[in-house]
Amino acid sequence: MKKIQAIRGMNDILPNETPVWQYLESTVQRVVQAYAYQEIRFPVLEQTQLFKRSIGEVTDIVEKEMYSFDDRNGENLSLRPEGTACCVRAADEHGLLYNQQQRLWYKGPMFRYERPQKGRYRQFHQIGVEAFGMTGPDIDVELILLTARLWQELGLQPHVRLELNNIGTAADRRQFGEALMTFLQKHEDELDADSKRRLQSNPLRILDSKVPSTQALLVDAPVLSDFVSADTVEHFEQLTQMLRDANIDFIVNPKLVRGLDYYNNMVFEWITDALGAQGTVCAGGRYDGLVEQLGGRATPGVGFAMGVERLVLMLEELNTVPTTVKQQVDVFVAIGSGLTGQAMALAESIRTAMPALRIQCHCGGGKLSNQLKRAFNSGASIALVLESELGSAAGAINDIKIRHLGEDARNETVSINELVSKLQALFPNA
Ligand code: HAM
Repeated sequence: MKKIQAIRGMNDILPNETPVWQYLESTVQRVVQAYAYQEIRFPVLEQTQLFKRSIGEVTDIVEKEMYSFDDRNGENLSLRPEGTACCVRAADEHGLLYNQQQRLWYKGPMFRYERPQKGRYRQFHQIGVEAFGMTGPDIDVELILLTARLWQELGLQPHVRLELNNIGTAADRRQFGEALMTFLQKHEDELDADSKRRLQSNPLRILDSKVPSTQALLVDAPVLSDFVSADTVEHFEQLTQMLRDANIDFIVNPKLVRGLDYYNNMVFEWITDALGAQGTVCAGGRYDGLVEQLGGRATPGVGFAMGVERLVLMLEELNTVPTTVKQQVDVFVAIGSGLTGQAMALAESIRTAMPALRIQCHCGGGKLSNQLKRAFNSGASIALVLESELGSAAGAINDIKIRHLGEDARNETVSINELVSKLQALFPNA
C-alpha cells in the first residue's frame, strides 16, 4: 500500500534534531525572561479578516500565501501566517492594552504557502516578542539589545548583522506612494505584469520587484527617505545614537521596507550570510497604528519575530551548539537476569535523589554484553551493571559495577549505599 507522506514544506522534527531546538528555545526563554517579558499563547486559527486588516490586502502573504478555508459554519478562517496580528487581537480582547504597558512573547508554528527551499517552509516556527504602550525609541533599543544578547549567548553574534531603516508614518508613505505612482505611471508600459497591477493598489510593493527591468526603472524613482516626517527622523536619530552608546553595530539600509503593511517608523532585520538566500533570521519594527486599525484604542507597539528553523540551521552549520546538548542519556542501567524489579527500584531512588540525571533502564532482557552495546550507543557516560553476585543469595545486590563508557573505559565497583554519592561526584550538576 502506498504510504501517506507529510505535506510538502512541512517538516517532522526528529529526535536527533529536537535537542538543538530545545537548546535554542530554552536559551531564548531565559533571555526574554531576563528582560521581564511574559509569555502569551493564542490559537493557530483566526478569522481571515484579522490578517487582511493587519498585514494588508495587497501583500504576498495575504494575496497568495495563506491557508484559508470555510469551516463547517461557513466562517472564513486562516492558519496564522504570523503572530503579531494574533497577539494584538488576544491582548486587546482581554483588556491587556488599555492604559498599560505590556512586554509579551510567544512561540509556535506559523503557516505560509511559499515555495519551499532551504530555510523557507510552509509550516515554520517563530519566537516573537511584542511590546505595547511605549512610544520609544528606548523600548526599540531594549528589543535590539535583547536580540544582541541572544546572539551572544548562542555564539551567533559574529555571523549576524543588524540592518535598520526609518520608513516614516503611514501618511508619509502615502505621499511617497503618490509620488512613486506619478513617476511609474510615466513608465507604465515598461513595468512587469505584477507591478502594473500593484501600481493602483500598493505601489510601494513594486520596490520589492525582482524583475531586472523594473529594478532598472526604479534607479531614478523618488526615494522614501525624502518623504519621512521630521519626528520619525528624530526618533530614528535618537535610536541610532542609543545603539552607538550601547556598542551595537548596525547598517542603515534605505531599501529595507518589510513585506507587511502594519509597520511605521523604525524597522529592522538581523541577517546572516551563513544560510544562502533565506538569510533573515529575525525581523520586526514599530507598528503604532495596528491596535487602532484592528478596532482597539490607539496604542503604540513594537516587536520582532525570529525564524526558529533558520536559527537551528545556523547553530548546526556553524557548530556552535555545546557538545553536551546532544547527549540525552547520562546513565544506562544494564540488568542481570531476575533483577529487573530491584534495578527499577534502584533507578527510582537515584531519580529521587538526583532529579536532573537522565537514566535509561534497559528493558527487554538479554545478555549483559548485548545490553552494554546498547549502553555505548545510547551516548550515556556510564553504565551501572547490576548482576547477582556469586555466592550471595539469588537476587541480592550489594555492589554495583560502574562501567565508564568514555575513552578511559574504566570499571569500578561501589557498594549500593555509596552509589548516590558516587553519582553526585560524577554528575555534579544533576
Ligand atoms: P516576517 O519577516 O514575516 O515578520 O517573519 C519573521 C521571521 O520569520 C523571518 O525573518 C524568518 O526568519 C522567519 N520566516 C518567515 N517566513 C518563513 C518561512 N516561510 N520559513 C521559515 N522561516 C520563515 C513577521 O512575521 C512579523 N510578525 C514580525 C514582527 C513581530 N514584527 C513586529 N512584531
